[in-house]
Amino acid sequence: MSIDFLNDERFSDINPFPNKIWLSSPTMHGDEQNWVDDAIRTNWVSTVGANINEVETECARKIGRNYSVALSSGTAALHLGIRLCGQKLYGRPRPGHGTLEGHRAFASDMTFDATVNPIAYEGGEAVFIDTEYDTWNMDPDALEKAFELYPDVKLVVLAHLYGTPGKIDRIRQICDRHGALIVEDAAESFGASFAGVQTGKKGDVSVISFNGNKIITGSSGGMLLTDSKEDAFLVRKWSTQSRENAKWYQHEELGYNYRMSNIIAGVVRGQLPYLEEHIRAKKAIYDRYREGLSDLPVRMNPFDEKNSVPNYWLSCMLIDKEAMCQQERGDKEAKYSSEPGRSCPTEILEALDAFNAEGRPIWKPMHMQPIYRDHLFVTKDGLYKSGSCMVDAGADIFERGLCLPSDNKMTVYQQERIIDIIHRCFR
Ligand SMILES: Cc1ncc(COP(=O)(O)O)c(C=O)c1O
Repeated sequence: MSIDFLNDERFSDINPFPNKIWLSSPTMHGDEQNWVDDAIRTNWVSTVGANINEVETECARKIGRNYSVALSSGTAALHLGIRLCGQKLYGRPRPGHGTLEGHRAFASDMTFDATVNPIAYEGGEAVFIDTEYDTWNMDPDALEKAFELYPDVKLVVLAHLYGTPGKIDRIRQICDRHGALIVEDAAESFGASFAGVQTGKKGDVSVISFNGNKIITGSSGGMLLTDSKEDAFLVRKWSTQSRENAKWYQHEELGYNYRMSNIIAGVVRGQLPYLEEHIRAKKAIYDRYREGLSDLPVRMNPFDEKNSVPNYWLSCMLIDKEAMCQQERGDKEAKYSSEPGRSCPTEILEALDAFNAEGRPIWKPMHMQPIYRDHLFVTKDGLYKSGSCMVDAGADIFERGLCLPSDNKMTVYQQERIIDIIHRCFR
């Protein structure tokens, strides 16, 4: 059923926002313009220049890594990071072949597909690892189980979702025990830390993103981080078409056009000093939702309050099972029936949209995606068999959770109105 929210009696006395409230939009400060102008004025607009050098130094310093390579996107950084690990594990492939051909890699299940697609770019097969309720990230118990089932696997790709660190220390220990490498996808969690250590520090290679909706942005862009000088050199070379140091275009390896431009780096350079300010604004949003929704049968996206400091990139909520109205999701459409005292993500997202505010469903788990449905999927109870009655954590969080408008330019008044709309959904 689709509701005409503007005329529904629960909402009929309120009006839509005149200007859209975004999920998470870029927040420019003016400094970005100076560094972009600087690049243009000095004619350093291509893939070399002071802005690139500066953002590489600053990101490595912030995360505590020795080296970083500025790239065109987080996805490009994931691709080269996964390729690098594949080559370390299985050797250099012939042109036309990926580094992971014939090999499996364990990967986060509830994440954006950019985390896992590069496994396929490299010819590998992702085995998805279930999510845990504590942090909404990779479940270390499910990962242990996966290594029991598939001890030959030597690569783990894990994401820290919505700015909340996953249990990276435990996952690192598990991987060390099994001699596996980690590609750490910190695209959404730049500036977040676990046990005092920044996300992006513990992966054999790690990745952050400067996509337009991230905690800070370059309009686009990404960064690969490593402690190995040789690895940084190799990735930088691959990202600029793998030109050898020769007097002509000499190629010994497959190359890519993945380097960040000095213009994009200018935007990132202008944003970097505002990272902590953005995190403070996002935390205030999270705290206001937590307080304002505390009388409803919902919880905020959780984090380990003792050990982790999220960057609070997106505020999300999970509806208690008993407070869910009926909701059915097919591959592309969702249906629900509104019930007094209950609601569901689809109803809340539609209500927010009707009042000109942008929310988003939780990332639909990879094992539920048509493209990856035939892949192996491991929960802490073992190998998931499709058709079994086992309900995995990722599918459950997807069913009951949603991302709330988390734009750091949203005013307190606007957020209070959003909180009010959510309350009205439960009437
Ligand atoms: C978890 C995650 N991984 C990877 C990416 C890819 O980053 P990019 O958009 O910079 O390619 C994103 C975001 O876009 C993301 O949210």
